[in-house]
Amino acid sequence: MSAVSDRRHIHLGLWLTYLSAAGWTAPDSRAEEVNGLEPYAEIARLAEDAKLDAVIRGDGVASHVLKADGPYAGSLELLTLLAALSARTSRIGLIGTASTTFSEPFTLARQFATIDHLSGGRAGWNIVTSSDGERNYGYETIPDQDERYARADEFLEVVERLWASWQPDAVRVDRATRTFVDPARVQAIDHDGAHFRVAGPLNVARSPQGRPVLIQAGSSERGRRFAAEHAEVIFTAQRELADGVAFAADLRDRVAAAGRDPGTTRILPGLGLYLAETETEALELYERELEVIDYDAARERLEKLLGGVDLSDVALDDRVPDDRWPDTAALARRQSRPQIFIDLSVRHGYTLRRVLQAVVAGFGHGRFVGTPEQAADRIVQWADAGAADGFVIFPSGGWQTIRLLAEQVVPILRERGRFREEYEGSTLRDHFGLPPVPAAVAPTLRRTAP
Ligand SMILES: Cc1cc2nc3c(=O)[nH]c(=O)nc-3n(C[C@H](O)[C@H](O)[C@H](O)COP(=O)(O)O)c2cc1C
Repeated sequence: MSAVSDRRHIHLGLWLTYLSAAGWTAPDSRAEEVNGLEPYAEIARLAEDAKLDAVIRGDGVASHVLKADGPYAGSLELLTLLAALSARTSRIGLIGTASTTFSEPFTLARQFATIDHLSGGRAGWNIVTSSDGERNYGYETIPDQDERYARADEFLEVVERLWASWQPDAVRVDRATRTFVDPARVQAIDHDGAHFRVAGPLNVARSPQGRPVLIQAGSSERGRRFAAEHAEVIFTAQRELADGVAFAADLRDRVAAAGRDPGTTRILPGLGLYLAETETEALELYERELEVIDYDAARERLEKLLGGVDLSDVALDDRVPDDRWPDTAALARRQSRPQIFIDLSVRHGYTLRRVLQAVVAGFGHGRFVGTPEQAADRIVQWADAGAADGFVIFPSGGWQTIRLLAEQVVPILRERGRFREEYEGSTLRDHFGLPPVPAAVAPTLRRTAP
């Protein structure tokens, strides 16, 4: 199926969660089911019925077992969950987050190729470099941004060559000649680089999309450079419209400078929604979320994010003095997210309490509290301003928000001609309107051909 794309159409991915910091304590939250398949299958079904592009979720390898981690403690490993969901869905894209820092390219290439096969071409990889979890992988300190992204660049080179190591017609299943695979159409990659030595070829046949859709999350200077080189879809946190417009313009320039077509790059900021039938009810939903904030735990989280800055002497209703904030370019773990919190204080005058509220409710992503109609306005406004080709929606208001998104926001967007009536193709690549992956583009095939 060729890539079909109406550029006025907005792309929507739905975060695969249903429990929020406050919402999980409600009697009907289904918090007990968090480690079962059913709630996720239901979210995916609602999203698929609404014809959303994909379900997506972050994932990490750090250990979250504190009381303050609440519903985020001990969550399921995402690629395994997506493999299960491939059997419970038929159209929607399945985007998994996986780290280039704490995995091996051969393993990850196999896992994503397998999900792409099982789902009939609906897999996407949200590429992250991890900002935590090093002590679970034998490191005493996290490798710094430059080191992580140098490994990520080489990681991408290896996985792309592995996915291209099978030509599309390599699997013959020719009973007469007893030829299952044509070995001439499968080629080793013999990669020998600074971080990896991988012989290949991949031991999973070329998958329906050729390779999964490459999504990227990391918006620091180094992360943007990586996105420009590799990403087809860019997932980012942007709170203010003007910042979103500037980010999107910068990324499109960088994609063009890297020799790629910015017209086939999709930019999706995250957007946390608290939806209700009336504005007042939506506000109540959001305020319940704020009421349960443990400000000591939130302050600790922010301090760690800032590389260990001590904010214990700052009163919650004061602003953090500007000179207390660190230079984010020097932070080893994350850079773009701490900058968002610093901007809230320095540029927008937030007190420490309000900064901490932004940390807990949505971790710095954009947030919208209101009715489905108003949410549709907000989504269209950002798309029309050039800040977004779509959004990754966090159902911050839980099940009610998921249902109102699927049953009201999406139909409103559709009425306005801004959302697909039906799925127009079968693959995630089709949903995003991305061009197909050409066959056998592996650099090794060109290099080693006789
Ligand atoms: C929108 C967004 C989402 C992210 N999600 C994850 C995630 O789920 N898991 C993870 O390990 N890192 C995640 N990261 C972090 C980056 O992959 C990475 O660790 C990076 O070095 C830090 O991000 P930065 O480049 O934005 O400073 C995310 C980053 C952004 C911007």
